[in-house]
Amino acid sequence: MAIAGSLSSDQLQFFNSHGYLVLESFASSEEVDCLRKRMEQLLDEFDYSSTASIFSTKNQQQSTDDYFFESAEKISFFFEEKAFDDDGKLKQPKPLSINKVGHDLHGIDPVFRNFSASDKFAGILSSLQYKRPVIIQSMYIFKQPGIGGEVVPHQDNSFLYTEPATCTGLWLALEDATIANGCLWAIPGSHKNGLVRRFIRDENGVHFDKPSPVYDQKDFVSVEVKSGSLVIIHGDLIHQSFENQSSKSRHAYSLHAVDTVDCKWAPDNWIRRKVDAEPLYVS
Ligand code: FE2
Repeated sequence: MAIAGSLSSDQLQFFNSHGYLVLESFASSEEVDCLRKRMEQLLDEFDYSSTASIFSTKNQQQSTDDYFFESAEKISFFFEEKAFDDDGKLKQPKPLSINKVGHDLHGIDPVFRNFSASDKFAGILSSLQYKRPVIIQSMYIFKQPGIGGEVVPHQDNSFLYTEPATCTGLWLALEDATIANGCLWAIPGSHKNGLVRRFIRDENGVHFDKPSPVYDQKDFVSVEVKSGSLVIIHGDLIHQSFENQSSKSRHAYSLHAVDTVDCKWAPDNWIRRKVDAEPLYVS
């Protein structure tokens, strides 16, 4: 009997050739509602006056502060770059000002932990030949209407590196993701060309070890998906998303898994948490 969430040979073939795979209706509307409502509560409880850390993938200086590093083992809130006016006041209500929440929702929050530990994820990771997978980070991404920032072309293995590389992204749409509200875009097959560069943490903070190649936008395809769909992303796949200039948000919950057997967590990753911690998945 197939394990819950395990991938068919056709699905594996698509993933291996394209570097990504969409699983429609992966989460039920009840599960999606449950995650969204829980995030509403967390946002409600968040007192933003204590932190005003603005997250932007274009401005790594901001991301190097302690708030960013410590978020590896916390539930931390990162504002949109365009959330504040010149006087440092929010231009829109708090729930519409947050870029993302991370990076340990799956470890700390009971609702997100329960969902992240689902057999459905374990089945996928087993199909992808993981031996002892751990979820190394989680993010709730808002892609706010009007101000949701772009995420420049990247590979997830750059940020969460093991030797050899084993990262896989599990990106769940909590709302319909369309070209208008900033869906994922990917270069199909680009995962076959290997890892281009790494994001290193050292005594100077964090930085890439090489400049980004210039990508031809014509090579990207849009990955529009319905709410509840899961996009599985190979760690070497080149992917990006654009600013959300529409009036609709594009919420998503994203997990990143790495293996802990026959590979080594790189000590110069931005996350220094212990990867040999108890896995969510019981094999
Ligand atoms: Fe990514």
